[in-house]
Amino acid sequence: SPLLFHSPPMTPFATAGEKPAVVSGTRLSLSAVNARHRFHPDHAPADTFAYHLGSETPTYSGPTIEAQADETVELTVTNRLTSHPFSRDIDTTLHGADEAYRTTPPIVVHLHGGKTPPDSDGHAEQLVHQGQSLTYRFPNRQEAGQFWYHDHAMGITRANAYAGLAGTYLLRDRFDTGRPDNPLGLPANEFEMPLILQEKIFREDGQMNLRSTPVVPEGSWEGGAVGDVGLVNGVVWPDIPVARGLYRFRALNATSYSVWNLHFGNHMQFWVIGNDGGLLDAPVPTNAIRMAPGERYDLLVDFSGVDGDVMLCNDEAPPFQAAMLGAVAMPLFCRFTVGSARGFTGPVPSTLRGGGRTPKPLPPLPSPTAVRTVSVSQPYALRVPPAYMALNNLRYTDPDIEMPKAGTVEQWNIVNVTDDPHPIHLHLVMFRILGRQPLRTVELQATHIQPPLGVRWTPDPEPFLAGPLLPPAPWEAGWKDTVRADRGTVTRILVRFPTADELGFDPDALFPRPATPPEVAARTAHGHAAATTPDLQGYMWHCHILDHEDHEMMLRYRVVS
Ligand code: C2O
Ligand code: CU
Repeated sequence: SPLLFHSPPMTPFATAGEKPAVVSGTRLSLSAVNARHRFHPDHAPADTFAYHLGSETPTYSGPTIEAQADETVELTVTNRLTSHPFSRDIDTTLHGADEAYRTTPPIVVHLHGGKTPPDSDGHAEQLVHQGQSLTYRFPNRQEAGQFWYHDHAMGITRANAYAGLAGTYLLRDRFDTGRPDNPLGLPANEFEMPLILQEKIFREDGQMNLRSTPVVPEGSWEGGAVGDVGLVNGVVWPDIPVARGLYRFRALNATSYSVWNLHFGNHMQFWVIGNDGGLLDAPVPTNAIRMAPGERYDLLVDFSGVDGDVMLCNDEAPPFQAAMLGAVAMPLFCRFTVGSARGFTGPVPSTLRGGGRTPKPLPPLPSPTAVRTVSVSQPYALRVPPAYMALNNLRYTDPDIEMPKAGTVEQWNIVNVTDDPHPIHLHLVMFRILGRQPLRTVELQATHIQPPLGVRWTPDPEPFLAGPLLPPAPWEAGWKDTVRADRGTVTRILVRFPTADELGFDPDALFPRPATPPEVAARTAHGHAAATTPDLQGYMWHCHILDHEDHEMMLRYRVVS
């Protein structure tokens, strides 16, 4: 489509895919650095960001951090960035984005999935500026699961994360040990592999293109960066050699915008054994899963019956607004080439939870004591640019925030009146999905006229239901921290907000807002970075489409006692 940028031609399967390096330890030190990375051998290396942690030369993204349940990890982060590969794309009309960030981008590190004290959770305003360091404390007081660490800096998260500031964080516990003798009988070592999945657009010179359409002028926020080539662990269309046997893939949708319908080219069956917050009760066989940005799926794939090779594919049509510009489904991530060597020969376990040598079963869905309606909308939809993406029709800076009570269970009804799915992520908590129900959105919006941005708008969805409650897919049944809120749908989740006792820290503690260094303050053209309160408090909840969270689809919330 002439309305979209396109990557130059690249030969598929030109590079052997690899596992990211693994680091572990209770005191880790990481730097965000400028780096260069060849995403494909046909093209020149691109300017990237990387998390440098350990001994390898940083190229893109970060190593896998492996941590143990109940063992605190102290992660000291230093910002050594001296330029931004997307300096021309920084949109200073967005809240928090500053002119100075083109050369001195601040960073924030958030451990997505972690139950983390508020001052270590990667609050979007807790910026670590150039030359500064911050020590984050991750108590890891929770079950094993696949989390990820990524940038969260106010107003430039999409640019920092696309440049490379993201990595996998695997939490292990006494059941899911990650060792070959694990009591669950799961593949380990070379038979367990993170699959960090992304899609991108490249330019002729090999550089990444944060924008996907020339329709939006350079320097303006775009609303959703689609890609036309798939990446696995930072490589375009790798060929991943595998042995004849069962593999455990820790898949992560680390892209900006797209929801994928992930499947194999031969439509073979695989098993989902866990998602965001840990294991399911039993493996769920399926031929495809839908996966939205921020979501993780723990997969078992049996290559013992595959002759030759098999591709990992996507066929989900792009979101409505990208489709209007002519975007088509990004079709391919990688190829697995099955060798003759015998791999992991154990069977797919029949159960994963049940007590004894496995974790306790998932509890039944809890009963809520409060119901809270929240909304996902696009105020001024027809204004291009800048349009806004909003939760509750509020801006990030509006003081009207959600304040659930610690120790209570709430049902959140997420009313999405837009034409796109939005993955909604709550920091600090793991929740369960009750289900989704279609809405008559035109009638709802005609009955409840949306006020100007900045005035709360959370219309009751119940009179506008257009069908029965659809339960979550069986592979969405476990602990989730990110849920796909489909277009024209109310998505119902059950969230228990933990108490300070359970957490081992006060989730509502105030913590100091870091000072803006004088060099940055001096170059601040229009005071976007100016502090409005001396202290910070609470957690974020937001859409995990990174372009949306950068343009107001992010709010704070507090867990109050
Ligand atoms: Cu994965 Cu608030 O983020
Ligand atoms: Cu969104």
